[in-house]
Order: sequence, then structure tokens, then C-alpha cells
Amino acid sequence: MKMSENTILITGGSSGIGLEFAKQLLELNNTVIITGRNQAKLDQAKKQYSKLITYKSDVTSPDAIRSLYATILENHPSLNVLINNAGVMRVTNFYSPDEDLISLTQEITTNLNGPIWMSHQFIPHLKKQKEAVILNVTSLLGIVPLPLAPVYSATKSGLISFTTSLREQLKHTSIKVFELAPQATQTDLVDVFDKEDVADFKLITAEALIQSAIKGMQNNTFEIRPEQTGQVYFLNKFAPKFLLKMMSKSLDRRLGAK
Ligand SMILES: NC(=O)c1ccc[n+]([C@@H]2O[C@H](COP(=O)([O-])OP(=O)(O)OC[C@H]3O[C@@H](n4cnc5c(N)ncnc54)[C@H](OP(=O)(O)O)[C@@H]3O)[C@@H](O)[C@H]2O)c1
Repeated sequence: MKMSENTILITGGSSGIGLEFAKQLLELNNTVIITGRNQAKLDQAKKQYSKLITYKSDVTSPDAIRSLYATILENHPSLNVLINNAGVMRVTNFYSPDEDLISLTQEITTNLNGPIWMSHQFIPHLKKQKEAVILNVTSLLGIVPLPLAPVYSATKSGLISFTTSLREQLKHTSIKVFELAPQATQTDLVDVFDKEDVADFKLITAEALIQSAIKGMQNNTFEIRPEQTGQVYFLNKFAPKFLLKMMSKSLDRRLGAK
């Protein structure tokens, strides 16, 4: 697809991967709109990149999504790209009896319901555009789970599956459906881990990740699996048990440490 002169909405664009996406897309002469829950973070992003358009909006709230849709249609009717990026991650311990059931599944609402609801809400508008895109940010952990973060991994597996189906459902429309599956990337999200947890992961910068993402979109590579994600995807076909053992190392260490 052409990567300039689009009007692009990025959920969770106030930090990390979303903010880097916004930066690089602004540099390519696109109109970029970002959302997030925290107004101070949005204001900070706007301070950094004055051309950014920001709206406070929570992807876990159907009312907020409906209201965002109305605002975007009114103020930015040329919107043709939706990037479902907002996400949260927790280390979840199924040994702990203290975990309450609602908080146990909060990642599902953000990481899975969020992109499904946003896509459903925006498809009628996107379909009317000459060239349109939905890009869902999944994860390497959707290909092979990290047992230390079981709910997060399940949401990303689910999102990969949803993205594949959505691509098929929309194949006769003007909407192209992309998936970006990042490997471990240096952002606030990985702060839930300690150093040893991520010792076997190659942490890349958000800058390098987004350079690959933009190249992938330009080339119509619908499943964008940069660097370590591509390697894991391949290895999972031939040595899934070995890979799972590797991914369980951080959990085993924590269980052994008890
Ligand atoms: N970093 C990694 O290693 C990695 C690897 C694979 C995939 N990913 C995926 O990449 C995406 C971006 O993560 P990141 O690493 O850039 O993390 P991040 O720096 O923590 O950014 C997350 C963004 O999402 C926003 N957000 C969270 N919950 C939201 C909600 N309910 N509604 C709207 N916005 C919300 C946050 O802003 P507010 O807090 O203000 O809402 C923030 O802007 C996520 O989907 C994540 O799962 C990350």
C-alpha cells in the first residue's frame, strides 16, 4: 500500500510501539490520530510531535468507541487506516488464590475485545475508502505462549486467529488486513519482567520494529513477522516441544525459587 497521505488512527499511541508508529508515519506525510486512556501521556506525545491529533479513548469501553467513531467521522472523514495497537500485559500466577476473577481476565478486554470492537465499529466507514487498512498488533507470544503470562499469550493467539478470519471476510472489499507480530521490544510493557525472564529474548527497539512494519505494509506483506518472530514461527513448526521448554524457563525459575 502507499504509505503517505493516509489518515491513520492508532489506538494506544501515547507510548512505546504506538508512539513510534505515529512518529514514523508523520515523517511519511500522513495525518496521524492517536488514542489512550491517560490524558497526561497524550499531552506529552503532542508536545513531542505537534502535528499529532490526540483523543482520550478507552478500547475496553463500547460507549467510548462509539463516541470516538462519531468524532472521527465528523473531524477526519478521510480516515482510511486503523491500527489496533493498544495492549496490556501481566504476569499471572495461577497458584495464587488471591487473584480476583475480573482482574484475571482484564487483558482479554483490552487485547482481544478492543481490536474486535474497534474493527467492527470502523469497518462501515473504512469500506467506503478507495484504499483502506486494518492492522492488528499481535505478538510472538501469540505463536508460542510464554507460560509466565498465560492470559496475555492467549489474547494474542486469539487476535492472530481473528485477524486471519477478518482478512478472509474482507477480501472482497477495499480493506486490507495486516498483522504485525512484534518480538520483545523495548517499551514500558516489558517492565513486568525481571532481567532473567527476558534473558533468552532479543529485545529490539521500537524504531527498528516500526521500520520493518512500514516496509511490510508497503510490500503488502499481510503477516509481518520481523526477526525473532519469524524464527520462532519457523521453529514452532519443526520443534514445538523444544520451543515451549525454552519459553517455560522463566516460569520454571520462578516456581523453583518458591
Ligand atoms: N513491547 C513488547 O515487547 C511487545 C511485544 C509484542 C507485542 N506487543 C504489543 O504491542 C502493543 C503496544 O505495546 P507497547 O509495548 O508499546 O506497550 P506500552 O508502551 O505500554 O503502550 C501501550 C499503549 O496502549 C495504551 N493503552 C493501554 N490500554 C488501553 C486501553 N484500554 N485503551 C486505549 N489505550 C490503551 C497505553 O496508554 P494508556 O495507558 O494511557 O491507556 C499506551 O499508549 C500491545 O498490543 C502489545 O501487546 C508489545
